[in-house]
Amino acid sequence: MNGTEAPIRVITYGTFDLLHGGHVKLLQRAKDLGDYLIVGVTTDQYDETRGKLNVRDNVMTRIANVQATGLADEIIIEDYEGQKINDIQQHNADIFAIGSDWLGKFDYLNDFCKVVYLERTAGVSSTQLRAETLGITRLGVVGTGRVTNSFIPEALKVSGLEFESVYNPRASAAQIFAENNGVHQHFCDYPAFLDSVDAVYIASPHEFHFEQIKAALENGVHVLSEKPMTLNAMQTEFLYSLAHERQKVLLEAITTAYCPGFIRLVALARSGVIGTIKCVDATYTRRAESPARELMSPYGGSVTELASTPLLAISKILDATPERTSIDTYTAPEGGVDEFSRINLRFEHAISSITVGLGVRSEGHLSVTGTGGSIYLPAPWWNTTDIHVRFEDPRRDQNYHFPFAGDGLRYAIAEFVSMIQNKRLSTYKMRPKDSLFISRVIEEFRLQNV
Ligand code: CTP
Repeated sequence: MNGTEAPIRVITYGTFDLLHGGHVKLLQRAKDLGDYLIVGVTTDQYDETRGKLNVRDNVMTRIANVQATGLADEIIIEDYEGQKINDIQQHNADIFAIGSDWLGKFDYLNDFCKVVYLERTAGVSSTQLRAETLGITRLGVVGTGRVTNSFIPEALKVSGLEFESVYNPRASAAQIFAENNGVHQHFCDYPAFLDSVDAVYIASPHEFHFEQIKAALENGVHVLSEKPMTLNAMQTEFLYSLAHERQKVLLEAITTAYCPGFIRLVALARSGVIGTIKCVDATYTRRAESPARELMSPYGGSVTELASTPLLAISKILDATPERTSIDTYTAPEGGVDEFSRINLRFEHAISSITVGLGVRSEGHLSVTGTGGSIYLPAPWWNTTDIHVRFEDPRRDQNYHFPFAGDGLRYAIAEFVSMIQNKRLSTYKMRPKDSLFISRVIEEFRLQNV
């Protein structure tokens, strides 16, 4: 630049997780394209919404690391899709630079400035560093049914995992599952299976959960259990104390608990924005593809199959112990299980209800009633994407929208893996007391109705 020319302003973006040599080279070459370098660092939330679920460094650390390179003249944060167009104009950028892994993806920015793709440095990436520094968790899956089939593609979205083994007491089922899903080993012997893995995902029929989780924890294996973890509170309590004693992660895989929208719902409800909460109502019904098993097994039925998720919402939003439980349920004649049920939970300062049904369809919404307003989640509220906060004066109403990727299980798996790798034994997203709350109600239902 000579004295009369305006400085050339370059802008670039990245997550810059576990800042590495490839990042530094990219920043250096971006800076060399002009005189002033602006670096956009993604927020944790933005990364989560775009499916980068296992970023190790939080945004403050990532910004500090970029700053420490001494290459950035200015650092901004990137928080939403499409923001680059606004930033380029607002910061008068002349050049947008990005690594060649994005070749062609940002051509649309040519309308606003010059787009330059810089050759990516070979042999290094944050993904690779995350795996090297934390190791790979060898995962085993227990059960080969419908839920497990959706687990595999979801788990593939989470880094730091390897599908090591599958267990099914029927050897042929385990073998077919392993072959179809690229799982290395298959077992019909549970202890041998446990010896082959660091962590398990338990998706067997409910009645086997307790013994399988117990054996896994005793074997030093971390556990992600399908819901409900057990069908009685004493068993759930026992398993959490065992996990604590063995210093292993034990987590219940209620997808909703880990998805960004639901986490915001709980925070909003508990923030007092709608005043004191007086009532929570949640409905969850499913027209099952193969209702026979869910309705015929003595451990099936609408409550064991579906109640965990609405009960989770009540546990998280009211965070109290119910004083009274009343249950109304319809059980098919000829010895079937409950097909639809309503459970009312009375608390000291609030009331709540859940409505669950198998083989029926109801509008699956959730509403929270407060002294100052209400919160409404439209169906299907358990895949939380939309939150409406409503007031007497509609001009104050607020609507929020959140991403919900795939069938959501990836959020639970990401939390599970992050807990294992960071040696974090608990998470606010799904607390032992939430699992216990759910177990207690399911147990009470079964005592009265089964
Ligand atoms: N980059 C690079 N060379 C590498 C890795 C990244 O030039 N070996 C560039 C990217 O192309 C991008 C910037 O650095 O322009 C920030 O990339 P980021 O996605 O944060 O880093 P990655 O290592 O690619 O992260 P991940 O493995 O999580 O995708």
